[in-house]
Amino acid sequence: MFKRAEKLGEIVKNSKEIHIVTHIDADGITAGSIAYQTLKRLGKEYSIEFVKQLDEEVLGRLKDANHELVWFTDLGSSVSNTYTDIKKVITDHHACPEKSDLPFHLNPHLFGLDGSYEISGAGVTYLVSRAIDKKNMDLSSLAIVGACGDLQDRRFLKLNGANRDILSDGEKVGTIKSKIDIRFFGRETRSVQKMLQYASDPIIPGLTGRESACISFLQELGITMQDGDELRRWVDLSKDERRLIISDIAQLLLTKGFGHKTTRRIIGEVYVLTKEKEGTEVHDAKEFATLLNSTARYGKYDVGLEVCLGDRDKWLEKARNLLLGHRANLVEGLQFAREEGITKRKHLQFFHAGSGIRDTIVGIVANMLLNSEDVSGDLPLIGFANKGDGEIKVSARATQELVERGLNLSLAMKKAAIAFDGMGGGHNIAAGATIPKGKEEEFLDILEKEIKSQLYD
Ligand code: C5P
Ligand code: C5P
Ligand code: ZN
Repeated sequence: MFKRAEKLGEIVKNSKEIHIVTHIDADGITAGSIAYQTLKRLGKEYSIEFVKQLDEEVLGRLKDANHELVWFTDLGSSVSNTYTDIKKVITDHHACPEKSDLPFHLNPHLFGLDGSYEISGAGVTYLVSRAIDKKNMDLSSLAIVGACGDLQDRRFLKLNGANRDILSDGEKVGTIKSKIDIRFFGRETRSVQKMLQYASDPIIPGLTGRESACISFLQELGITMQDGDELRRWVDLSKDERRLIISDIAQLLLTKGFGHKTTRRIIGEVYVLTKEKEGTEVHDAKEFATLLNSTARYGKYDVGLEVCLGDRDKWLEKARNLLLGHRANLVEGLQFAREEGITKRKHLQFFHAGSGIRDTIVGIVANMLLNSEDVSGDLPLIGFANKGDGEIKVSARATQELVERGLNLSLAMKKAAIAFDGMGGGHNIAAGATIPKGKEEEFLDILEKEIKSQLYD
């Protein structure tokens, strides 16, 4: 991979004008920002755009724009051996066929690594950036934020594979640090009671979703929740207080019959951006990723980009405001999907959000639902949402257990989407597609057959 990264670095260095095309999620924003910062430091002529997907409209436009070089980050593998008239380099981590093993294409799947948990789009982009100049090692922290945004720490409760080398780069230059702590979201910015109330991986029986139960739980443990006017956050608690809470949650899970595998998920590696201020959204890598997801997924590309480039003033403030909206949308989205109801078929389950959930966040909602108490984890979950132009966005999510049994959502979604001239792909555990409106039932029929054959044939 490093040789290929160097090769891509050479192509970049030999070009004067470079246009970056990246994806709208946290991994895409960090990937694009790493490329952007790299080109800026090289003194190149550079520009960037964010896209939901690489469709013919985008590719046609890129062809016409006639850039000297297009750098695709966190996407592009699907067009590695087509659109030959666009001069390109690609740093992507989505599933791709062997025939796309080309000198300008860097993708972990071509080198025996799994792009769903060993390295992200930001990670592969970072490898090129580092190959161009070791001074870019400071950008490794953005690559870790990208990996966390794509939930690459979920499988082993810590980052794995090439992500660990990136992490050690960041530790060397002092931009990132890993430590063992509670894995729940919001360690730095949420009050402890809110952190527990929203706990989702694993859910805490009796506490998740119940604010007053979380308050009584903390009271019974003798934890003071208030410090003056402020509610205390996880990072404000003493070591003993933290230990007490962790062991009580573990006991709660075990007595409810959750087993050690689930209970172990409470703690794991967390990643802290050492140069950032503690208690801000950009100090913890997972919180940073969620902040970024609140920007480009809502079309506010420049906000995410500026925060990644280092603004801690006006743009961070804008991002914080967007985060409030994003959180509210997720809560509403979850409620909406539950009200619509999840329909179970033999080999999959699905919900149709219509226009009730944005196409850009229906995947996050599907993932949260699949990890919740009231939705079975035995079947993959498919979410539909209107895209607004006669098209439907499909998001599919699975569990690690299903993947270990042979499920590959990327392949299944791709096959089912092609049947309708749509586009699909992604990772074995999480994939997406776009299909024409009105074809949802037929799409499910094909997808279900595909899933069945992966799991049972
Ligand atoms: O497009 P991209 O590769 O950046 O997105 C990866 C997607 O896979 C994310 O939406 C992430 O939440 C999802 N994922 C998941 N479970 C995992 C790993 C990734 O749902 N264990
Ligand atoms: O959009 P969503 O979060 O559901 O996407 C899940 C994964 O599938 C992401 O990695 C995304 O990049 C990928 N995807 C894809 N082709 C599509 C839609 C999504 O490869 N048409
Ligand atoms: Zn990605």
